[in-house]
Amino acid sequence: MSRKFFAENDISTLSQRSTAIDNSTATLARSGPVINPSLLAADFAHLQCDIKRLEDAGAEILHLDIMDGHFVPNLSFGVPVVSAIRCCTELPLDVHLMLSEPQKYLAPFRQAGADFLSVHIEVAPDPRPLFDEIRRLGAIPGLVLNPPTPVETVLPYLGDCDLILAMSVMPGFGGQTFDPTALEKLRRIRAVARENMMISVDGGVGLSTIAGCAAAGANLFVVGSALLGAPDIKARFDALTTLAKEGATASWRF
Ligand code: DX5
Ligand code: ZN
Repeated sequence: MSRKFFAENDISTLSQRSTAIDNSTATLARSGPVINPSLLAADFAHLQCDIKRLEDAGAEILHLDIMDGHFVPNLSFGVPVVSAIRCCTELPLDVHLMLSEPQKYLAPFRQAGADFLSVHIEVAPDPRPLFDEIRRLGAIPGLVLNPPTPVETVLPYLGDCDLILAMSVMPGFGGQTFDPTALEKLRRIRAVARENMMISVDGGVGLSTIAGCAAAGANLFVVGSALLGAPDIKARFDALTTLAKEGATASWRF
């Protein structure tokens, strides 16, 4: 008996949508820094309200953290919540799979409305079959590496995915301190990545760290507590964007 995880969207409609999103997000990332708010820091009792606040602040994409309590020592939310978020917003959904067995959940998360699906190199030493499946589902593949994982493990696959994400904390929790070892990884990735690659960083990104990430080559900045914990989200969104732009022009030019 096949089991449905939740309301499934029509894959061909989703595919048309994701092709447009792929193009527009790559264009965005090329033309300037993109702040990618992590809903892990949102008020889950008022998710729709927080999504609206992020949209009003200027968000162009949302980052959703999926944790399985096995690959990372925490649980977050799953397919039904992604589906519910899909109903609240037209923004691209960047789904970060912190799962030991991501292959089991690609289709359910895609059907729930994920546009980007990122998997960890630590559980997929050769991620190409997963990228193939993500593309077959009409979504955009990304690859993630944790702080202790050498950057050399992901370099062979940069040409096979559209997004690469350097973790700057050990995944599992929001609100942790930025690990600067991510910066050298970003530099190494930027040095060899194609121009329209989305180069992302996640964990402890905020007012004091975002410019350094931009200078190292990131163009997509996952920000949780430093954005949703701010007294004025729009002001913080603008401040982070300005700092990222300044950091980028200091070295890497968008
Ligand atoms: C951590 C998650 C992050 C997290 C970042 O496991 O992958 O996306 O939400 O949160 P902050 O920005 O608070 O470090
Ligand atoms: Zn994340």
